[in-house]
Amino acid sequence: MILGIGRAAGKVILFGEHAVVYGRPALAVPVTQVQAEARVEPAAAGTGITICAADLGEEIALGRAAADHPLALAVRLALAHLRGEEVGPREPDWRITVCSTIPIASGLGSGAAVSTALVRGVAAALKQQEAAAGRPAPVLSAATVSALVYETEKLHHGTPSGIDNTVIAYGQPVYFVRGRPAEPFAIGRPFTLVIADTGIRSPTRITVGDVRRAWEREPARYEALFDRIAALVEQARTAIADGEPARLGPLMDQNHALLSEIGVSCAELDVLIAAARAAGALGAKLSGGGRGGNMIALATEKNAARVAEALIAAGATRTIVTEVAPIP
Ligand code: MEV
Repeated sequence: MILGIGRAAGKVILFGEHAVVYGRPALAVPVTQVQAEARVEPAAAGTGITICAADLGEEIALGRAAADHPLALAVRLALAHLRGEEVGPREPDWRITVCSTIPIASGLGSGAAVSTALVRGVAAALKQQEAAAGRPAPVLSAATVSALVYETEKLHHGTPSGIDNTVIAYGQPVYFVRGRPAEPFAIGRPFTLVIADTGIRSPTRITVGDVRRAWEREPARYEALFDRIAALVEQARTAIADGEPARLGPLMDQNHALLSEIGVSCAELDVLIAAARAAGALGAKLSGGGRGGNMIALATEKNAARVAEALIAAGATRTIVTEVAPIP
């Protein structure tokens, strides 16, 4: 018997990563081809909540989990928010199985998606229990899911901008500025992206920390780089709204060059980016924290398969072809 299921898609950042941590805007979109899922089932009476992270081979007893365990924190926060009380002796008896097709530490929002799936799974299970008892269930807004998941993001990397939890919790393309409410952005015409994985895991915490130290050493230089990225984000937003995605190609190339100057590219990303351009992509850049993880290439419907093949030939461990389209 299943009490509730929560799901969440992955994401890519189109423009503006890293600069977004310093108050500049960024554009991000969900990637539904990769998903995290949390399934809540009843467990034996008195056993409390066990989180089974199938992909990690980990079983976590909520009652004994450390305060800073991200999966346990997502469940605790959701329960505390929905039940309006601290989770204690009245913890429900549940087995929550989490699985995900989103590669870890690869710029596709795996941490935020797993937390979002857990929060939604807990909400769905409580809803079913409340309905069975004839009581109305509290509703979780996207803003609340995002705020709860942000708390778990802080464990993954100390100073998250909040873009990952926002785009994943809202499940929509977002123009994001730290500290401001999420702003969905208009897409005048759909466009095709090829996403390719270097296969190198690169925790965001490390690249974000390195950028912070570099910014502390040379604040004026880094602020200027972030300003130039912010200008590209604004141009990209306008091109997307105008239904002229081809204009994004050169903007992606420029954004990648600036990310290289910031120090977050690496040889493997640069090889994939060059291969995508050689195969006819209109532009390409790293996406997310960098130094590994994924890159994105702007393709056309016609050449996407060729670009994806070239990326695999150049060493990508996997590619995803996705269409960025308005939410109906
Ligand atoms: C990570 O997906 C994006 C970064 O800009 C970090 C953040 O915004 O928290 C690198």
